[in-house]
Amino acid sequence: MIVYENILRHPGPTPIPKKVQLAMNQDIFSHRSQEFVELYRETTELVKPIFGTTQEILLLPSGGTAALEAAAVNTVAAGEEVVVITVGAFGDYFVSICEQYGFHVHKLAKEWGQACTAEELREFLQPLNNIKAVFVTYNETSTGILNPVAELAQVIRQETDALVIVDGVSCIGGAPAEMDAWGIDILVTGSQKAMMLPPGLSLVSVSERAWKVIEENQTPSYYLNLLSYRSWAEKGMTPNTPAITLIYGLHEVCKLIEQEGGFAQTVARHALMKDMVRSAMKALNIEPLTEDQYASPTITAIKTPQGIDLGEFLTRLKQHYHVDFAGGLGHLQGQIFRFGHMGYCFPSDILQAVSLMEAALKDFSYDFEPGAGVVAAQQVFLAAQQKA
Ligand SMILES: Cc1ncc(COP(=O)(O)O)c(C=O)c1O
Repeated sequence: MIVYENILRHPGPTPIPKKVQLAMNQDIFSHRSQEFVELYRETTELVKPIFGTTQEILLLPSGGTAALEAAAVNTVAAGEEVVVITVGAFGDYFVSICEQYGFHVHKLAKEWGQACTAEELREFLQPLNNIKAVFVTYNETSTGILNPVAELAQVIRQETDALVIVDGVSCIGGAPAEMDAWGIDILVTGSQKAMMLPPGLSLVSVSERAWKVIEENQTPSYYLNLLSYRSWAEKGMTPNTPAITLIYGLHEVCKLIEQEGGFAQTVARHALMKDMVRSAMKALNIEPLTEDQYASPTITAIKTPQGIDLGEFLTRLKQHYHVDFAGGLGHLQGQIFRFGHMGYCFPSDILQAVSLMEAALKDFSYDFEPGAGVVAAQQVFLAAQQKA
Protein backbone atom coordinates (compact mmCIF):
# COMPACT_ATOMS: atom_id res chain seq x y z
CA MET A 1 0.00 0.00 0.00
CA ILE A 2 1.33 3.44 -0.88
CA VAL A 3 1.37 5.79 2.10
CA TYR A 4 0.99 9.40 1.06
CA GLU A 5 2.11 12.35 3.07
CA ASN A 6 -0.60 14.72 4.16
CA ILE A 7 -0.47 17.92 2.08
CA LEU A 8 -1.36 20.53 4.66
CA ARG A 9 -3.04 23.52 3.05
CA HIS A 10 -4.51 25.00 6.22
CA PRO A 11 -4.23 28.62 7.30
CA GLY A 12 -2.11 27.41 10.21
CA PRO A 13 -0.48 25.39 11.50
CA THR A 14 1.47 25.13 8.27
CA PRO A 15 4.28 22.88 6.96
CA ILE A 16 7.78 23.30 8.38
CA PRO A 17 10.80 23.45 6.04
CA LYS A 18 13.30 20.58 6.46
CA LYS A 19 16.09 23.07 7.21
CA VAL A 20 14.00 24.57 10.00
CA GLN A 21 13.26 21.12 11.41
CA LEU A 22 16.98 20.36 11.42
CA ALA A 23 17.81 23.71 13.01
CA MET A 24 15.38 22.94 15.82
CA ASN A 25 17.04 19.59 16.39
CA GLN A 26 20.01 21.09 18.24
CA ASP A 27 21.21 20.68 21.78
CA ILE A 28 19.44 22.81 24.34
CA PHE A 29 21.44 25.26 26.43
CA SER A 30 20.44 27.39 29.37
CA HIS A 31 18.39 30.46 28.66
CA ARG A 32 20.73 32.34 31.00
CA SER A 33 23.83 31.41 29.00
CA GLN A 34 25.90 33.52 26.61
CA GLU A 35 24.90 31.12 23.80
CA PHE A 36 21.27 32.03 24.35
CA VAL A 37 22.01 35.76 24.46
CA GLU A 38 23.73 35.48 21.08
CA LEU A 39 20.89 33.43 19.58
CA TYR A 40 18.26 35.79 20.97
CA ARG A 41 19.99 38.97 19.83
CA GLU A 42 20.85 37.71 16.36
CA THR A 43 17.40 36.24 15.79
CA THR A 44 15.41 39.27 16.93
CA GLU A 45 17.59 41.53 14.71
CA LEU A 46 16.82 39.30 11.74
CA VAL A 47 13.07 39.50 12.42
CA LYS A 48 12.93 43.31 12.42
CA PRO A 49 12.65 43.75 8.61
CA ILE A 50 9.72 41.30 8.59
CA PHE A 51 7.90 43.60 11.03
CA GLY A 52 9.22 46.77 9.39
CA THR A 53 10.50 48.09 12.67
CA THR A 54 13.65 49.16 14.46
CA GLN A 55 11.98 48.40 17.80
CA GLU A 56 12.86 45.35 19.87
CA ILE A 57 11.09 42.09 18.98
CA LEU A 58 9.82 40.39 22.12
CA LEU A 59 9.49 36.61 22.09
CA LEU A 60 6.74 35.07 24.22
CA PRO A 61 6.55 31.31 24.76
CA SER A 62 2.90 31.26 23.78
CA GLY A 63 0.26 31.01 21.10
CA GLY A 64 -0.91 34.13 19.30
CA THR A 65 -3.87 34.60 21.64
CA ALA A 66 -1.59 35.23 24.62
CA ALA A 67 0.26 37.87 22.64
CA LEU A 68 -3.03 39.57 21.76
CA GLU A 69 -3.99 39.43 25.41
CA ALA A 70 -0.60 40.90 26.35
CA ALA A 71 -1.18 43.78 23.93
CA ALA A 72 -4.55 44.48 25.53
CA VAL A 73 -3.75 44.02 29.20
CA ASN A 74 -0.57 46.08 29.08
CA THR A 75 -2.11 49.13 27.45
CA VAL A 76 -5.69 49.52 28.67
CA ALA A 77 -7.36 49.45 32.09
CA ALA A 78 -10.87 48.29 33.02
CA GLY A 79 -13.48 50.89 32.20
CA GLU A 80 -11.38 52.60 29.53
CA GLU A 81 -12.74 52.90 26.03
CA VAL A 82 -11.44 50.99 23.05
CA VAL A 83 -12.52 50.35 19.47
CA VAL A 84 -12.30 46.88 18.00
CA ILE A 85 -12.62 46.48 14.26
CA THR A 86 -13.98 43.03 13.57
CA VAL A 87 -14.48 41.52 10.13
CA GLY A 88 -14.63 37.88 11.23
CA ALA A 89 -13.94 35.26 13.89
CA PHE A 90 -10.53 36.59 14.92
CA GLY A 91 -11.71 40.17 15.24
CA ASP A 92 -14.34 38.73 17.58
CA TYR A 93 -11.47 37.18 19.58
CA PHE A 94 -10.12 40.67 20.17
CA VAL A 95 -13.60 41.80 21.32
CA SER A 96 -13.77 38.90 23.80
CA ILE A 97 -10.32 39.63 25.22
CA CYS A 98 -11.20 43.31 25.71
CA GLU A 99 -14.55 42.43 27.30
CA GLN A 100 -12.92 39.93 29.67
CA TYR A 101 -10.77 42.75 31.03
CA GLY A 102 -13.74 45.07 31.45
CA PHE A 103 -12.82 47.53 28.72
CA HIS A 104 -15.65 49.59 27.28
CA VAL A 105 -15.71 48.21 23.74
CA HIS A 106 -17.00 50.10 20.69
CA LYS A 107 -17.30 47.42 18.05
CA LEU A 108 -16.96 48.29 14.38
CA ALA A 109 -18.28 45.07 12.85
CA LYS A 110 -18.39 44.33 9.15
CA GLU A 111 -20.13 41.50 7.39
CA TRP A 112 -17.82 38.46 7.19
CA GLY A 113 -16.03 38.55 3.85
CA GLN A 114 -15.71 42.33 3.75
CA ALA A 115 -12.83 44.58 4.77
CA CYS A 116 -13.05 47.70 6.90
CA THR A 117 -12.24 50.76 4.79
CA ALA A 118 -10.51 53.94 5.95
CA GLU A 119 -13.68 55.98 5.32
CA GLU A 120 -15.82 53.65 7.44
CA LEU A 121 -13.34 53.81 10.27
CA ARG A 122 -13.11 57.60 10.09
CA GLU A 123 -16.87 57.93 10.30
CA PHE A 124 -16.98 55.49 13.22
CA LEU A 125 -14.24 57.27 15.18
CA GLN A 126 -15.40 60.85 14.69
CA PRO A 127 -18.16 60.92 17.35
CA LEU A 128 -16.03 59.02 19.90
CA ASN A 129 -13.82 60.53 22.59
CA ASN A 130 -11.13 59.22 24.93
CA ILE A 131 -10.42 56.08 22.92
CA LYS A 132 -7.37 54.42 24.44
CA ALA A 133 -6.66 51.87 21.73
CA VAL A 134 -7.99 50.64 18.42
CA PHE A 135 -7.58 46.92 17.78
CA VAL A 136 -7.31 45.78 14.17
CA THR A 137 -7.00 42.33 12.62
CA TYR A 138 -4.61 42.72 9.71
CA ASN A 139 -5.44 39.38 8.10
CA GLU A 140 -8.80 37.86 9.03
CA THR A 141 -8.13 34.13 8.85
CA SER A 142 -11.80 33.13 8.90
CA THR A 143 -12.59 34.97 5.66
CA GLY A 144 -9.30 35.64 3.87
CA ILE A 145 -9.56 39.40 4.15
CA LEU A 146 -6.48 41.58 4.37
CA ASN A 147 -7.62 44.82 5.98
CA PRO A 148 -5.93 47.95 4.59
CA VAL A 149 -4.00 48.33 7.82
CA ALA A 150 -1.69 51.15 6.69
CA GLU A 151 -4.71 53.32 5.81
CA LEU A 152 -6.56 52.34 8.98
CA ALA A 153 -3.56 53.22 11.14
CA GLN A 154 -3.32 56.60 9.44
CA VAL A 155 -6.98 57.36 10.15
CA ILE A 156 -6.61 56.31 13.79
CA ARG A 157 -3.60 58.63 14.15
CA GLN A 158 -5.48 61.49 12.48
CA GLU A 159 -8.73 61.13 14.43
CA THR A 160 -7.59 60.02 17.90
CA ASP A 161 -4.68 59.67 20.33
CA ALA A 162 -5.43 55.96 20.58
CA LEU A 163 -2.79 53.28 20.22
CA VAL A 164 -2.94 51.24 17.03
CA ILE A 165 -2.80 47.57 18.03
CA VAL A 166 -2.60 45.04 15.21
CA ASP A 167 -3.13 41.28 15.11
CA GLY A 168 -0.84 40.05 12.37
CA VAL A 169 -0.97 36.41 13.46
CA SER A 170 -1.99 34.95 10.12
CA CYS A 171 -0.01 37.14 7.74
CA ILE A 172 3.23 38.50 9.19
CA GLY A 173 5.97 36.73 7.26
CA GLY A 174 3.86 36.71 4.09
CA ALA A 175 2.32 40.17 3.87
CA PRO A 176 4.00 43.57 3.75
CA ALA A 177 4.47 45.11 7.17
CA GLU A 178 5.90 48.54 7.89
CA MET A 179 5.13 48.87 11.55
CA ASP A 180 7.13 52.09 12.07
CA ALA A 181 6.23 53.81 8.80
CA TRP A 182 2.52 52.96 9.10
CA GLY A 183 2.28 54.14 12.71
CA ILE A 184 1.42 50.79 14.27
CA ASP A 185 2.01 50.79 18.04
CA ILE A 186 1.87 47.10 18.79
CA LEU A 187 2.21 44.38 16.18
CA VAL A 188 1.72 40.77 17.14
CA THR A 189 2.24 37.51 15.32
CA GLY A 190 2.50 33.79 16.01
CA SER A 191 4.93 31.12 14.89
CA GLN A 192 2.70 28.55 13.23
CA LYS A 193 1.50 30.36 10.15
CA ALA A 194 3.54 32.40 7.65
CA MET A 195 6.55 32.15 10.00
CA MET A 196 6.94 28.47 9.03
CA LEU A 197 7.38 27.17 12.58
CA PRO A 198 5.47 24.86 14.90
CA PRO A 199 2.98 26.53 17.28
CA GLY A 200 4.23 27.86 20.59
CA LEU A 201 6.08 31.12 19.99
CA SER A 202 4.63 34.57 19.59
CA LEU A 203 6.36 37.77 18.53
CA VAL A 204 5.44 41.24 19.72
CA SER A 205 6.87 44.64 18.90
CA VAL A 206 5.98 47.88 20.67
CA SER A 207 6.41 51.53 19.60
CA GLU A 208 7.99 54.23 21.81
CA ARG A 209 4.56 55.83 22.15
CA ALA A 210 3.02 52.57 23.35
CA TRP A 211 5.82 52.00 25.88
CA LYS A 212 4.90 55.32 27.52
CA VAL A 213 1.28 54.16 27.84
CA ILE A 214 2.37 50.75 29.13
CA GLU A 215 4.57 52.38 31.80
CA GLU A 216 1.51 54.27 33.10
CA ASN A 217 -1.03 51.46 32.78
CA GLN A 218 -2.34 50.08 36.05
CA THR A 219 -3.84 46.73 34.93
CA PRO A 220 -1.96 43.97 36.74
CA SER A 221 -0.25 41.25 34.73
CA TYR A 222 2.53 38.80 35.46
CA TYR A 223 3.40 36.27 32.76
CA LEU A 224 2.25 38.65 30.03
CA ASN A 225 3.88 41.75 31.49
CA LEU A 226 5.59 43.46 28.55
CA LEU A 227 7.73 45.72 30.76
CA SER A 228 9.28 42.60 32.16
CA TYR A 229 9.92 41.30 28.62
CA ARG A 230 11.49 44.64 27.72
CA SER A 231 13.87 44.73 30.67
CA TRP A 232 15.02 41.14 30.07
CA ALA A 233 15.34 41.81 26.32
CA GLU A 234 17.89 44.51 27.17
CA LYS A 235 20.04 41.67 28.53
CA GLY A 236 19.29 39.49 25.49
CA MET A 237 17.00 37.21 27.48
CA THR A 238 13.38 36.54 28.37
CA PRO A 239 11.83 36.73 31.85
CA ASN A 240 10.96 33.03 32.01
CA THR A 241 12.12 29.91 30.20
CA PRO A 242 11.71 30.65 26.50
CA ALA A 243 10.79 28.28 23.66
CA ILE A 244 14.49 27.80 22.85
CA THR A 245 13.88 25.19 20.16
CA LEU A 246 11.47 27.47 18.34
CA ILE A 247 13.95 30.34 18.53
CA TYR A 248 16.55 28.15 16.81
CA GLY A 249 13.88 27.53 14.20
CA LEU A 250 13.03 31.22 13.90
CA HIS A 251 16.67 32.01 13.26
CA GLU A 252 16.68 29.53 10.39
CA VAL A 253 13.39 30.90 9.01
CA CYS A 254 14.98 34.35 8.80
CA LYS A 255 17.98 32.85 6.99
CA LEU A 256 15.65 31.15 4.49
CA ILE A 257 13.93 34.47 3.86
CA GLU A 258 17.33 36.06 3.25
CA GLN A 259 18.18 33.25 0.84
CA GLU A 260 14.94 33.83 -1.05
CA GLY A 261 16.35 37.27 -1.89
CA GLY A 262 15.01 39.19 1.08
CA PHE A 263 11.61 39.77 2.59
CA ALA A 264 10.24 41.66 -0.44
CA GLN A 265 10.67 38.48 -2.49
CA THR A 266 8.82 36.45 0.12
CA VAL A 267 5.97 38.95 0.06
CA ALA A 268 5.92 38.80 -3.77
CA ARG A 269 5.73 34.99 -3.68
CA HIS A 270 2.70 35.17 -1.40
CA ALA A 271 0.98 37.70 -3.66
CA LEU A 272 1.65 35.45 -6.64
CA MET A 273 0.21 32.38 -4.89
CA LYS A 274 -2.89 34.36 -3.99
CA ASP A 275 -3.37 35.36 -7.65
CA MET A 276 -2.81 31.78 -8.79
CA VAL A 277 -5.44 30.38 -6.42
CA ARG A 278 -8.01 33.04 -7.28
CA SER A 279 -7.52 32.62 -11.04
CA ALA A 280 -7.82 28.86 -10.72
CA MET A 281 -11.05 29.08 -8.75
CA LYS A 282 -12.59 31.55 -11.17
CA ALA A 283 -11.65 29.29 -14.11
CA LEU A 284 -13.49 26.46 -12.35
CA ASN A 285 -16.54 28.70 -11.76
CA ILE A 286 -15.92 28.56 -8.02
CA GLU A 287 -16.17 31.87 -6.25
CA PRO A 288 -13.68 33.25 -3.73
CA LEU A 289 -15.53 34.74 -0.74
CA THR A 290 -13.77 38.09 -0.93
CA GLU A 291 -13.20 40.80 -3.52
CA ASP A 292 -9.79 40.84 -5.22
CA GLN A 293 -8.98 44.24 -3.73
CA TYR A 294 -8.81 43.00 -0.14
CA ALA A 295 -7.77 39.41 -0.81
CA SER A 296 -5.35 37.89 1.65
CA PRO A 297 -1.94 36.79 0.37
CA THR A 298 -1.87 33.93 2.89
CA ILE A 299 -5.32 32.32 2.83
CA THR A 300 -8.19 32.22 0.32
CA ALA A 301 -11.71 31.46 1.50
CA ILE A 302 -13.64 29.74 -1.28
CA LYS A 303 -17.38 29.25 -1.58
CA THR A 304 -18.66 25.68 -1.80
CA PRO A 305 -18.72 24.53 -5.43
CA GLN A 306 -22.28 24.44 -6.78
CA GLY A 307 -24.18 21.25 -5.97
CA ILE A 308 -21.47 19.71 -3.77
CA ASP A 309 -21.70 18.68 -0.13
CA LEU A 310 -18.71 20.51 1.34
CA GLY A 311 -18.08 18.07 4.19
CA GLU A 312 -17.96 15.12 1.77
CA PHE A 313 -15.78 17.07 -0.65
CA LEU A 314 -13.19 17.98 2.01
CA THR A 315 -13.20 14.43 3.34
CA ARG A 316 -12.67 13.05 -0.17
CA LEU A 317 -9.79 15.48 -0.73
CA LYS A 318 -8.15 14.50 2.53
CA GLN A 319 -8.70 10.76 2.51
CA HIS A 320 -8.31 10.03 -1.18
CA TYR A 321 -6.01 12.79 -2.44
CA HIS A 322 -4.23 13.60 0.84
CA VAL A 323 -4.72 17.32 0.52
CA ASP A 324 -6.07 18.92 3.65
CA PHE A 325 -8.01 22.18 3.36
CA ALA A 326 -9.69 23.88 6.34
CA GLY A 327 -13.43 24.30 6.65
CA GLY A 328 -15.29 27.51 7.43
CA LEU A 329 -15.65 28.96 10.91
CA GLY A 330 -18.76 30.20 12.70
CA HIS A 331 -21.75 30.78 10.47
CA LEU A 332 -19.61 30.18 7.37
CA GLN A 333 -19.17 26.53 8.31
CA GLY A 334 -20.46 24.41 5.41
CA GLN A 335 -20.46 27.42 3.10
CA ILE A 336 -16.77 27.98 2.49
CA PHE A 337 -13.47 26.17 2.75
CA ARG A 338 -10.11 27.78 3.32
CA PHE A 339 -7.06 27.22 1.15
CA GLY A 340 -3.90 28.17 3.06
CA HIS A 341 -0.97 29.37 0.97
CA MET A 342 1.49 30.79 3.44
CA GLY A 343 4.96 30.20 4.75
CA TYR A 344 6.55 27.07 3.35
CA CYS A 345 4.36 27.06 0.25
CA PHE A 346 5.37 27.72 -3.34
CA PRO A 347 3.70 28.10 -6.76
CA SER A 348 4.33 24.39 -7.39
CA ASP A 349 2.29 23.57 -4.28
CA ILE A 350 -0.59 25.63 -5.63
CA LEU A 351 -0.50 23.76 -8.94
CA GLN A 352 -0.49 20.48 -7.03
CA ALA A 353 -3.41 21.40 -4.76
CA VAL A 354 -5.51 22.80 -7.61
CA SER A 355 -4.90 19.67 -9.66
CA LEU A 356 -5.98 17.42 -6.78
CA MET A 357 -9.01 19.61 -6.23
CA GLU A 358 -9.96 19.10 -9.85
CA ALA A 359 -9.64 15.33 -9.37
CA ALA A 360 -12.07 15.48 -6.44
CA LEU A 361 -14.44 17.73 -8.39
CA LYS A 362 -14.54 15.08 -11.11
CA ASP A 363 -15.46 12.46 -8.50
CA PHE A 364 -18.45 14.63 -7.57
CA SER A 365 -19.44 15.04 -11.26
CA TYR A 366 -18.98 18.78 -10.98
CA ASP A 367 -19.43 20.44 -14.36
CA PHE A 368 -16.12 22.00 -15.41
CA GLU A 369 -13.50 21.81 -18.10
CA PRO A 370 -10.82 19.45 -16.79
CA GLY A 371 -7.50 21.24 -16.39
CA ALA A 372 -9.05 24.72 -16.52
CA GLY A 373 -8.00 25.56 -12.95
CA VAL A 374 -4.45 24.29 -13.36
CA VAL A 375 -4.02 26.12 -16.66
CA ALA A 376 -5.30 29.38 -15.17
CA ALA A 377 -2.93 29.12 -12.18
CA GLN A 378 -0.08 28.17 -14.49
CA GLN A 379 -0.71 31.21 -16.68
CA VAL A 380 -0.44 33.53 -13.68
CA PHE A 381 2.75 31.78 -12.66
CA LEU A 382 4.30 31.93 -16.13
CA ALA A 383 3.41 35.60 -16.53
CA ALA A 384 5.21 36.35 -13.26
CA GLN A 385 8.22 34.27 -14.37
CA GLN A 386 8.46 36.26 -17.58
CA LYS A 387 8.40 39.56 -15.69
CA ALA A 388 11.11 38.45 -13.25
C1 LIG B 1 -5.79 36.29 12.97
C2 LIG B 1 -5.57 35.37 14.13
N1 LIG B 1 -5.45 35.90 15.36
C3 LIG B 1 -5.26 35.16 16.44
C4 LIG B 1 -5.16 33.78 16.35
C5 LIG B 1 -4.95 32.97 17.59
O1 LIG B 1 -3.68 32.40 17.59
P1 LIG B 1 -3.37 31.09 18.46
O2 LIG B 1 -4.30 30.02 17.97
O3 LIG B 1 -1.92 30.82 18.16
O4 LIG B 1 -3.59 31.43 19.88
C6 LIG B 1 -5.28 33.17 15.11
C7 LIG B 1 -5.22 31.70 14.98
O5 LIG B 1 -5.60 31.13 13.99
C8 LIG B 1 -5.49 33.99 13.97
O6 LIG B 1 -5.59 33.45 12.75
